[in-house]
Amino acid sequence: MKRVLSGMRPTGKLHLGHWVGALQNWVELQEKYESFFVIVDWHALTTDYENPSQIRENIVEIAADWMAAGIDPERSTVFLQSLVKQHAELHLLLSMITPLGWLLRVPTYKEQMRQLSDRDLHTYGFLGYPVLQTADIIIYKAELVPVGEDQKYHIELAREIVRRFNHLYGEVFPEPKEILTPVPKILGTDGRKMSKSYGNAIFMDDPPDVLRRKIFPMMTDTRRKRRSDPGKPEDCPVWTLHRAFTPEEKRRELYQGCTTASIGCLDCKRVLVEELTLRFAAFREKKESLMRKKEEIKEILVEGSRRAARVAEQTLEEVREVMGIGIKV
Ligand code: TRP
Ligand code: SF4
Repeated sequence: MKRVLSGMRPTGKLHLGHWVGALQNWVELQEKYESFFVIVDWHALTTDYENPSQIRENIVEIAADWMAAGIDPERSTVFLQSLVKQHAELHLLLSMITPLGWLLRVPTYKEQMRQLSDRDLHTYGFLGYPVLQTADIIIYKAELVPVGEDQKYHIELAREIVRRFNHLYGEVFPEPKEILTPVPKILGTDGRKMSKSYGNAIFMDDPPDVLRRKIFPMMTDTRRKRRSDPGKPEDCPVWTLHRAFTPEEKRRELYQGCTTASIGCLDCKRVLVEELTLRFAAFREKKESLMRKKEEIKEILVEGSRRAARVAEQTLEEVREVMGIGIKV
């Protein structure tokens, strides 16, 4: 059975973009493949090393988000990167064979540095981010990696590192391949890409009153200045959410209503609030109950990490052998 691996950085609780872009897909994949889902706290440190105080809380919250969304820790291995030290060892070994030029050329490297200009990212760890990510994947010999479009280059780099490794030491690793889910972009409440750092995110566990507070004042198609002005849903951030969450039939009605000005934007937004409330009611309930049992969540991560470490250690034994590291007893 092929293995799937994916991960998220513990930078905060999950929003609708995470659900549509990743989590929904993971929940399906775990039915078909042996799956590993990792919370990558070391990766969080590459950008948040000056202010790591939130990382621990976020780990528990993200684990709760995953499980409430349907990731089943009995079926999939759900674990914490920093509890599986083998990732660090493989990262170090891979760093020996990874040319600097490959890392300097990663488009996200310079882009992130520009975007997070309030932090000093001229560090060794930040440059090595994709090497650590490669270790995360190939230590389980995972062949499938469900990720967003923005991670494509990282997986490509992982393949290049694998090819170089296999060429130097023999065929140890399969080449991983990304699974890109074609998802329509979900826009945030201000019309930009939904992102926690923009402060425009709708979280998976937002209760109805918060949904109303966020969605009612949302930007809409600028053509609809007055109630009687027809609009074009394609140019409306609210519509990106309807597209992802409202059933087709109801959506057709709304489309009609918008383009003929027979409904107002507030009517349209009320439907969205209803749909999101309905869709995430069970999630919210489950998450709430999980968050009352934080110790259990931690226990699940510890147990998952033990399971992961057993697989990872087997791979590393092979790696040490072919690289000629250590003493054979
Ligand atoms: N870089 C990924 C992101 O920011 C997180 C990540 C770390 C990851 N290791 C991984 C994703 C391994 C997939 C596989 O989203
Ligand atoms: Fe957007 Fe709905 Fe208003 Fe049309 S009616 S502009 S889709 S909020």
